[in-house]
Amino acid sequence: MSGGPIPASPLPLAARAPGKCILFGEHAVVHGRPELLLAIDLYTQLLAAPGETMRLNGEAGALRDNPYLSRAMEEIGAAGRPAIDWRTVSSIPRSAGLGSSAALCAALATVLLARQGGGERALLAERAFRLERGAQGVGSPGDTSASVAGGLVSVNSSEGTLLWEVEADGQRWTVRRVTDPGWVWVVCHSGVTRKTADAVRAVGLRLARPDGPALLDRFAATATAGIAAVRSEDREATGRCLRENQELLREVGVSHERLEALIAVAAPLSFGAKLTGAGAGGSIVALPRPGREVELLQKLRAAGGRPFAVRAAPTGATLVPAPP
Ligand code: PMV
Repeated sequence: MSGGPIPASPLPLAARAPGKCILFGEHAVVHGRPELLLAIDLYTQLLAAPGETMRLNGEAGALRDNPYLSRAMEEIGAAGRPAIDWRTVSSIPRSAGLGSSAALCAALATVLLARQGGGERALLAERAFRLERGAQGVGSPGDTSASVAGGLVSVNSSEGTLLWEVEADGQRWTVRRVTDPGWVWVVCHSGVTRKTADAVRAVGLRLARPDGPALLDRFAATATAGIAAVRSEDREATGRCLRENQELLREVGVSHERLEALIAVAAPLSFGAKLTGAGAGGSIVALPRPGREVELLQKLRAAGGRPFAVRAAPTGATLVPAPP
């Protein structure tokens, strides 16, 4: 499902990488606890063609302002680098907790790896994480690993088959493949944008208080039960864990009135719903009751959200044919 190694290829190149939603364990994963992520079938495509000047979507300024691309260009260095005309096309809403930055980093790492001789997916996961962490300064490799692997992946859990391990600043995360039950999920952007790094730092401060370790134990227990529920294809139990995880996220201060309103809309039509990603705005994810998906999408839209019905992305970041 992850797709094979990235082959060596010259420019022009095009790569495609999926977004993601976090089913269980966001924030706690930064502190070494388990997480479950679903790569979703919304994608970012990145095209790289030889150009006269280095630019993004036609503008040199846009490239300098993009933290991931500008960082990657710094890493490559001016020497031996032909000017590249970068273009992006994405169906993932930005700053919404749906993995737009992870998908961009995964697509970017795919192009760079292909140009540098190709390599295994574990190396791609490490490169994509380095780009995201380098630009954000904080965070776990969960998002970028999901975008590189596709499908359903666990982090810091003993469940599933080992895909790779990623390390940063003395911390190590294990990433595993979990079998996707094939369910349809509904994600919904609240329209409230926010910065992941700010929410991660705020939760870090909250968890530094005396009850922090006990809270992290509860996050870990919920994620572990959630992973087991998904693996055993038990929607009722999965829904309970989603709701329990939302209570914890509320307790550490990253819910938002718009998210709570969307979760309330989803409640009667789903097994459970929670915020997904860093919170403080961004999106929710719900596991709809079979047959109620369309009604759920309509009600979320009527409540002012931007909903999408999603499934697991069948493959992770990959090269695709470059347009002529
Ligand atoms: O950037 P987001 O909203 O998808 O959030 C990422 C999830 C966190 O656990 C909050 C941070 C991380 O890097 O794992």
